[in-house]
Order: sequence, then structure tokens, then C-alpha cells
Amino acid sequence: MPTLPLTYDGNPVLRKKAQPIRVVDHLLEQMLDDMVETMHANNGVGLAAPQIGVSKRLIVADIYDGEPPIRMVNPRIVEREGSVVGVEGCLSIPNVYGDVERAERVVVKGLNEKGKAITLTAEGLLARVFQHEIDHLDGRLFTDVATNIREMTEEELDEAADEGRYEPALGNI
Ligand code: CO
Repeated sequence: MPTLPLTYDGNPVLRKKAQPIRVVDHLLEQMLDDMVETMHANNGVGLAAPQIGVSKRLIVADIYDGEPPIRMVNPRIVEREGSVVGVEGCLSIPNVYGDVERAERVVVKGLNEKGKAITLTAEGLLARVFQHEIDHLDGRLFTDVATNIREMTEEELDEAADEGRYEPALGNI
């Protein structure tokens, strides 16, 4: 399975509204596998198809909790609850961070890699990853919704992590 090159802020594909998938076939499953491979190669916890230059509604996520990586087609958030502000980054905007308010818990509906309808409930880190990745599918970057956007040094990131405001994996979504 190949690791694919990432797209970066400034690439128009990151600003397009990604197209819904109509048919889940073997090629699409292969693309989701490539996305997982690319996410892992970048120590990522989430990746959306526009980040590999593909304007389709596909996301993957892996919070390394022992569960297999999540592969999701046409994901949509159907329920949000609570609100939490945390430091977030993005693989497509290296070294830049910002404070982003997200729902604490979300319910996401979509299809899995076999085309079967699935509903996932996520809290905390995974809930943030879903919201960030689904924003990518709508051409939205975290810097559009973040406050206090800045470059952060390793020390500042460590400090934020110690204070519970930053989960290190969230630089790689
Ligand atoms: Co991102």
C-alpha cells in the first residue's frame, strides 16, 4: 500500500467542498487503506481525503486505543453535546496551532469501507478528530475557527500538554 503525499494550506483542494461517494467499491476501499497508511506514516490520528489531494468525502482516524483504524465514507455529524476548548494543529498546516472550541461528544453517521451504514459515538480526542476531519470535507481549516493562532515551540506544547490543554496527537490531524 503506498503512502501518499500530503497537500498543504494554499492548495485549492483544501478549500473545495468534497464530493459525496455514490458507490463504495474495491478501489474506494483501497484508497481508504492508502489514507490509513499515510496517516500512520505521519504519526497522525486523523486524515481527510482532501489532505491527499482527493476531493471526496472520506476520512480515517486512529487514536491508537487498540481498536482498528476507523474508515468512514460520507461522514456527517448528527448530534453534538457539550463544548471544550483545546489546542489543535493540522498536518496540512505544519507548526501552527490554535485554540479551537469543539463539541465534547458527537454522534457521526456514514458508511464503512464495505458500504454498510454505521453510527459512531465519540468523546474527547476522537470527537475532536471527527469534527476537524469533517471540516476538511467542507473546505474548512482549523485556522478558520481557531483563536490565538500561533507557532508553538516544543516547550510551549509540552507545557500545554502538562496543563491538559493539548493532546500531542492533535498536531497531526
Ligand atoms: Co487537518
